[in-house]
Amino acid sequence: MKKLVGIIVAVIAFVFFGELLANGEGDFFPGEKWFDTDSIHINAHGGGVCYYDGIYFWFGEHKTSGRGGNSAQVGVRCYSSVNLYDWKNEGVVLNVSSAEGSEIEKGCVIERPKVVYNKATGRFVMWFHLERKGRGYNDAYTAVAVSDKITGPYSFVKSVRPNAGTWPLDYSGVRDTLISTKKLEWWTPEFNDAVNDGLFVRRDFSKGQMSRDMTLFVDDDGTAYHIHSSEENLTLHISKLTGDYISFTNEWIRVFPGGHNEAPAVFKYKNRYFMITSGCTGWDPNEARLAVADSMMGHWTYLGNPCVGEDANKTFYSQSTYVLPVAGKNDAFIFMADRWNPSNPIDGRYVWLPLMFNNDVPYLKWFESWNFNVFHD
Ligand code: GAL
Repeated sequence: MKKLVGIIVAVIAFVFFGELLANGEGDFFPGEKWFDTDSIHINAHGGGVCYYDGIYFWFGEHKTSGRGGNSAQVGVRCYSSVNLYDWKNEGVVLNVSSAEGSEIEKGCVIERPKVVYNKATGRFVMWFHLERKGRGYNDAYTAVAVSDKITGPYSFVKSVRPNAGTWPLDYSGVRDTLISTKKLEWWTPEFNDAVNDGLFVRRDFSKGQMSRDMTLFVDDDGTAYHIHSSEENLTLHISKLTGDYISFTNEWIRVFPGGHNEAPAVFKYKNRYFMITSGCTGWDPNEARLAVADSMMGHWTYLGNPCVGEDANKTFYSQSTYVLPVAGKNDAFIFMADRWNPSNPIDGRYVWLPLMFNNDVPYLKWFESWNFNVFHD
């Protein structure tokens, strides 16, 4: 009899805890391999998440093995989840093209894809950093693709150099595109002054501004913003997108000229806008930066490194990609970052950490593992 009761208790406990796990009572293990529901390490690097109809969709760069694995051999992959722990592979939603000369020809660079839903058009809009095949990082394009279904397929629309022929809203520099050809040595006071004054804005005025690391942010009123590293990665630009989210409005600002910020991730907390970025050291980690503003279009104030504790000066060996608001929880955000592996990019890891707050200012600390209990409601 005792044995039977024991077995029944064990079965109930097994079913109960199994259910809890299925409902998201799992744990995040930052930096560890993260397996999808087919037991394959998730392949969605430099990613972002779009929450739609009660489901999270994680979009990211499909990387491959070996040294060339950072170029786009496959495209953008998507995963879905209801609990943020268990991810189902939804396949490749934007495919590279096999057509020679295509802007998204296999072997190009497709980085940091972000997808947002446009309520007015009912379409899903993906923007990503694009470098055409064989041109290194010289194009500095941002590109857009759309789909009627969140899981694609996404059709390529166009690539752009943003804001051609317009000056930024906050611009006080020289409005003259004939820049001096005098070679300025980088990081000299003269160079810094010239950058501040819009040296590269002026240089790229006609062809459009450079756009490399990028993210999107949609405000509560439905306005979408494109945030990107520009001016040779020296200055961030924030641009308002059109109502359909597929073009630039030419309303834009510069943030921290000469500040060398990359990997922007933006979120809104208690009516203020926060942005986490990294410095520029390629695939190597560096110290993250935090900034705050009362409006997306500025003025942005630098608040320092949001990370605390051991390895805070390396962002816990990762680089920001997105800040994900957790649905149904007040003020709960997940910092999403990449731990790149340039010698075997497919093995890059994900560092997801909960954002903590101190006097309404976010900070990040390391957790070997964590779960939703760290959030208060
Ligand atoms: C990083 C950037 C990545 C990728 C890489 C290439 O700084 O954040 O998205 O562009 O450089 O070296």
